[in-house]
Amino acid sequence: MKNSRADHELSLDFLRVCEAAAIESARTMGQGDRKHSDHVAVEAMRKVMDTVPMRGRIVIGEGERDEAPMLYIGEELGGGIFSEEARAEFPEVDIAVDPLEGTNLCALGANNAIAVLAAAERGGLLNAPDIYMDKIVVGPSCRGAVDIDAPVKDNLKNIARRLGRDIDDLTVMCLDRSRHRQLVQDVRDAGARIRLISDGDLSAGISAAVAGTNIHALMGIGGAPEGVITAAAMKCLNGEIQARLVFDPERLGVDKAKIPPKDKVMKRLRSMGITDPEKIYDTNDLAPGKKIIFAATGVTDGALLRGVRFFGAGKRTHSVVMTTETKSIRFVDTVHVEGGPDAVIRF
Ligand code: FBP
Repeated sequence: MKNSRADHELSLDFLRVCEAAAIESARTMGQGDRKHSDHVAVEAMRKVMDTVPMRGRIVIGEGERDEAPMLYIGEELGGGIFSEEARAEFPEVDIAVDPLEGTNLCALGANNAIAVLAAAERGGLLNAPDIYMDKIVVGPSCRGAVDIDAPVKDNLKNIARRLGRDIDDLTVMCLDRSRHRQLVQDVRDAGARIRLISDGDLSAGISAAVAGTNIHALMGIGGAPEGVITAAAMKCLNGEIQARLVFDPERLGVDKAKIPPKDKVMKRLRSMGITDPEKIYDTNDLAPGKKIIFAATGVTDGALLRGVRFFGAGKRTHSVVMTTETKSIRFVDTVHVEGGPDAVIRF
């Protein structure tokens, strides 16, 4: 990305990309078919993404080329509607996408499904494998106060001190998974409140970094791709994520047969340039980019974003677009007008 003017324009382009994915998946809300909801989000995101004036490359996407026809890792896209000459001038951008974060949430019509992406200059986002990642995410006031290896109680004590409250005033979000039995017990023993969520630790992480959501930390194991996109959001929100890859079946509380064997994972990690599988990643390791753009649109209602609303004359989307370059956090309420001259737009 060459200059802040270009970044600014790109951020609005990425807003369009997320809006399109959110609208298409929201149409399928509650239909009980998570794969279909994901598929339409991917298609819509891919289509609009290709109109963005950039030389884009997917670094976190729907998987390897042989398992994903669109938005696969390594796919080059963008600038599709421009001449070769014009494209040569466009900025090179790495992109991490999650066209529908919370596929189950959308399929069930539950809260907090979003369409989301992060972008940065080449090399600005960790090329993370699609495996699990242990994470702790906190907001700006708690930066430097947590340690992923410290006992849960110590982290909560430090968060409470930084926020000027007692531990029992804190709320921690955590995915409701059997692998978190001990974590949940530790949070309860420390006296904090807990919100167990069925899915969507990316939007939960963002909530933890925004004051006023009444979420003070996200803890526990979720997807590594979601971790990288969360880190991009943290760079814009001044929050912090610490994380470590997890592939030990015992820690995951799953049968060995259910996850890829360790040697296969190690080979894959090495091919992605990851030599220390035990490394603790901080925000900058996951999203080292200097020019980060983060965009998300609500699919279903959530703590920060409203879901897509459909009405006779069109639809309305609610998004957040953030950039490190322009240091702006925009909440964007867009009415997409479809009706003719008689269309009525409400405030
Ligand atoms: P999808 O949108 O791919 O369904 O992911 C939802 C999610 O809950 C993520 O937010 C989270 O990081 C991950 O799945 C957790 O994985 P699992 O459901 O296997 O515990």
